Amino acid sequence: KTVAIVGCPFRGGQAKLGVDHGPIRLVQAGLPEQLAELGWKVQFDGHHQFEEIDTQNDPPIGKLKNPRLVSRVSQAVAQVVGGHAKKGVLPLTLGGDHSLAMGTISGTLEQYPDACVIWVDAHADINTAETTDSGNLHGMPVSFLLGIGPKIPEFGWVKPALRPERLVYIGLRDIDAGEKRILRENGIRAFSMHEVDKYGIGKVVEMALDHVNPKGDRPIHLSFDVDALDPSVAPSTGTPVRGGLTFREGHYICEAIYETGCLVALDIMEVNPSLADVEAVRQTVAVGCSLARSALGETLL
Ligand code: ARG
Ligand code: MN
Ligand code: MN
Ligand code: MN
Repeated sequence: KTVAIVGCPFRGGQAKLGVDHGPIRLVQAGLPEQLAELGWKVQFDGHHQFEEIDTQNDPPIGKLKNPRLVSRVSQAVAQVVGGHAKKGVLPLTLGGDHSLAMGTISGTLEQYPDACVIWVDAHADINTAETTDSGNLHGMPVSFLLGIGPKIPEFGWVKPALRPERLVYIGLRDIDAGEKRILRENGIRAFSMHEVDKYGIGKVVEMALDHVNPKGDRPIHLSFDVDALDPSVAPSTGTPVRGGLTFREGHYICEAIYETGCLVALDIMEVNPSLADVEAVRQTVAVGCSLARSALGETLL
């Protein structure tokens, strides 16, 4: 078994500086060695540079900020992730902001058309060009993958390859009004923090898996935004929201998905090492590493 670390030092999907340093810090913290320790053959040939992508002339399209940059970087990431998947290697994408998931999930679906997506986040990231308030593309990748909302020619490469019933959310607690309507109208299953409180994380993960992967025969793409965790657990991230997953709830999700044996791709997103003091940054980077380890087979016993 081989994992390929896809480091994506990218911040164009949102406004705050620093999230582009997330992958560098995760690797510096020893993530490649930690995964090797778990028995994985680890491929890592440096972080992606995206330097050939021209960012000079990128005015907003409607409300969307940095649209050409986000589109081209995600397209490049889709090719890299798809290429690893094609070789049977598990891509572990380190963000960077969550707009990158447009690329990672496109890459997964290219190789595994029947894959399902488990999106762990405080946010649904399902705004469209019509519903977005911020214009930040990290709040929008899921709508592109589903093919909902106005078509933006610049994003024409993104195939609407994700079906609403193959997507499930865990950890939601900050959803825009337009996003609530989209979730409802498309019948998308979501387990907010309310359901985590009500049923407990064990039951929630069981219900989530039963929804997207009832027979256990579908490949799983896990896209984990660290802001799903409570800010006391992962403080250094761009859009923290109180009332999030505990340390154990977050890791439990990863452990349970590993146990299915169906995981084919993993994203660890939105670690921003410049939004807290040294100790809180160290804690956030460490939790990013330990989530990845849990999803890739680390057990408590
Ligand atoms: N819903 C808000 C927006 O669209 C926040 C999105 C936050 N997304 C994230 N990947 N952290 O701007
Ligand atoms: Mn910088
Ligand atoms: Mn989020
Ligand atoms: Mn997100």
